[in-house]
Amino acid sequence: MTTQSSSIIIDGKLVAKKIRDEIASEVARIKGSTGIVPGLAVILVGSRKDSQTYVRNKKKACEEVGIESFEATLPEDCTEEDIIKHISDFNSNPSVHGILVQLPLPQHINEEKILNAVTIEKDVDGFHPLNIGRLAMQGRDPLFVPCTPKGCMELLHRYNIEIKGKRAVVIGRSNIVGMPAALLLQRANATISIVHSKTKNPEEIIRQADILISAAGVPNLVRGSWLKPGAVVIDVGINAVDDSESPRGYKLVGDVCFGEASSVASAITPVPGGVGPMTIAMLLSNTLSSVKRIHDLK
Ligand SMILES: *[C@@H]1O[C@H](CO)[C@@H](O)[C@H](O)[C@H]1NC(C)=O
Repeated sequence: MTTQSSSIIIDGKLVAKKIRDEIASEVARIKGSTGIVPGLAVILVGSRKDSQTYVRNKKKACEEVGIESFEATLPEDCTEEDIIKHISDFNSNPSVHGILVQLPLPQHINEEKILNAVTIEKDVDGFHPLNIGRLAMQGRDPLFVPCTPKGCMELLHRYNIEIKGKRAVVIGRSNIVGMPAALLLQRANATISIVHSKTKNPEEIIRQADILISAAGVPNLVRGSWLKPGAVVIDVGINAVDDSESPRGYKLVGDVCFGEASSVASAITPVPGGVGPMTIAMLLSNTLSSVKRIHDLK
């Protein structure tokens, strides 16, 4: 027997599966009663292998829950106008309820201009500035919340972790994860701090966290000794590090030293199998809420 306490492992894979099952039965119910099939359109520009893999996984996840997928694949050297033309078509296509533009876009494309072109009613990625702006404001509600931070919150909720009044620290301030995660925690009435590359005393701030969401993209950045005993740790990092024992030559690790942290934290997400599977589940969930809003369904 060991006297060292060990944390609850937050099983994102299991939760994501449960959510996908819930969505599948909702999609079937809507189809049965109204004949409406939810549709998700993905725009892929260029031929990055990682982006192609994400898009393929999204398509497969849609199929599994009965959401119809639409795809536009454009060459690396296409123009902003080409992309916007496809977005406009999807904006006005009544069979499409969600549109996402796979990021990153090629260097010569202005990302802001492209994301602004997606109608906010179909902005299932939640990246439109109007949706982000509403997320930041009291008394306003965004139509969609970005999928990865929404997945983090969903894990906290499904594991009955109280957020109100807690100290929450977010590592990273990206538009896609860190910033919206901090806004969501604040909306849930936590007191938030954001730690980033220019923060002078990151350890000191992180040690105050009752809830830590890390989206730094730095392998094993957060040591067990940086955590407050009993903290809840949500690790968004998915970092490839060399591993001679793996046939692939690498393995995936989070931003947090899992071995060290799991004897200090009260609950922690593993990498892989934590936040990762939640992102696509939230994309499907956003697509389902979109179809319900557009058609005023219960
Ligand atoms: C957060 O606090 C506000 C203001 O007291 C309250 O209206 C709201 O319901 C709270 N939300 C949560 C999730 O606790």
